[in-house]
Amino acid sequence: MKKVLVIGAGGQIGTELVVGLRKRFGNDNIIASDVKDEVKDALKDGPYEKLDVMNDADLKEVVAKHQITEIYLLAALLSATAEKHPDFAWKLNMDGLFNVLNLAKDGVIEKIFWPSSIAVFGPNTPKDNTPQYTIMEPSTVYGISKLAGERWCEYYAKQYDVDVRSIRYPGLISYTSLPGGGTTDYAVDIFYSANRNEKFTCFLSEETGLPMMYMEDAIRATINLMEAPKESIKIRSSYNLAGISFTPVEIFNAIKRVRPNFEIEYAPDFRQKIADSWPSSIDDTHARQDWGWEPEFDLEKMCEIMLDNVLKN
Ligand code: SER
Repeated sequence: MKKVLVIGAGGQIGTELVVGLRKRFGNDNIIASDVKDEVKDALKDGPYEKLDVMNDADLKEVVAKHQITEIYLLAALLSATAEKHPDFAWKLNMDGLFNVLNLAKDGVIEKIFWPSSIAVFGPNTPKDNTPQYTIMEPSTVYGISKLAGERWCEYYAKQYDVDVRSIRYPGLISYTSLPGGGTTDYAVDIFYSANRNEKFTCFLSEETGLPMMYMEDAIRATINLMEAPKESIKIRSSYNLAGISFTPVEIFNAIKRVRPNFEIEYAPDFRQKIADSWPSSIDDTHARQDWGWEPEFDLEKMCEIMLDNVLKN
């Protein structure tokens, strides 16, 4: 029987993933875990464990207690925060991954999901329609940790037959749970300003195109990837995945069509340099071919849902 542990369940992706997995596989089969003592309301429908993934002994204890078969490892520091705490970011992003990979190598668990990111690309990568296989020279601590993690995932898959699966997530847009410490976070924050009738100050310049995706698409992609037959997963580093690509001025204009008085100003900060090193759009042919990926949300549909919901949560 499937027993899933979601590590980092209190975060932006983790929260919605737990909800999605519980809907599909039953509340009691999905164990949410996070370093925080306090359990979020959204996670209260099933089991919760306080867990620091860097503590290998505690991780093993939780896995044994619940007889876990699959782990989704979402605990990580994102790009902007990682630049401020490089040592800790490297430790968290790498130690956590090794602890989980080794559980699979030792035959304790059967399957792993680990997220990578568009941050694995760098300033020398082709920016438009960035291919799966291309120049990868990330210039952020976060990107370096994700690229190293991808290489280790593939190594464990090839050397030890570990069933690890991964997606290079674009910037994710959601309202249930807020992002924190990312370079793509502006695309969530903008909806709060729009709904409060406040002028939005954007920390990126107006023409900074980045790959983005509405959270519902990302959760569907993640679960579909994990449920796909093992033979169809040809890439064991991480899959490119594309949803919607836009610039700050494009999302501003899309919101302005529904909120005509909305205003924006641009005040790029240190995150501009990070964004400038990333692709503006992604080629996800392999994900489409190997496990049937197809996005459902475009910019208009996503804006409509976000404007309807951000202030309710
Ligand atoms: N959303 C992430 C960030 O901005 C990218 O994976 O750091």
